[in-house]
Amino acid sequence: MDRIIIDKTARRLAGKDQVRILFVCLGNICRSPAADGVMRSIVKENGQESRFLIDSAGTGGYHIGDLPDQRMRVHARRRGLELTHICRQVRESDFDNFDLIVGMDESNLRNLRRLAPTVEAEAKIVPMAAWVDAALRYDHIPDPYYDGAEGFETVLDLLQNGCQNLYNSLS
Ligand code: 4NP
Repeated sequence: MDRIIIDKTARRLAGKDQVRILFVCLGNICRSPAADGVMRSIVKENGQESRFLIDSAGTGGYHIGDLPDQRMRVHARRRGLELTHICRQVRESDFDNFDLIVGMDESNLRNLRRLAPTVEAEAKIVPMAAWVDAALRYDHIPDPYYDGAEGFETVLDLLQNGCQNLYNSLS
């Protein structure tokens, strides 16, 4: 966990009627649609759907229009999450339309910083791992695309921990 990022974000968004969060990875078929689904379920459990607007996108454009990766959907479904996001690429207007742009790894963050049109837009970019418990010992959400089942389970474990901490820090 990165206390400085967590506190700075909480201060910036404190008291806002609506909090708009965009989760971003490379392909937008594994990690970010899973984060989107995990966060939606936490928000729903807490009856806060009207306060949070949640979406996801990819820095790459290889899978535009696709559902999440079949393996990600199967692993998520076992945890009670149906992932129905349709893949899209990050666009410049996302920096206006969202308050928080959450990247899964360093490469995603670097690409997002390159796309940010203004200094204010760049300040919205944060790493997902900042909200993951330090005890889990991950400084990024690892790309599971070329991994086996274990990689998808790790992603879901990290996202369930990180999204719960993110939700708590904004409540
Ligand atoms: P994601 O995983 O960034 O978590 O959606 C990937 C999905 C697709 C590819 C790479 C990573 N790809 O190279 O097609």
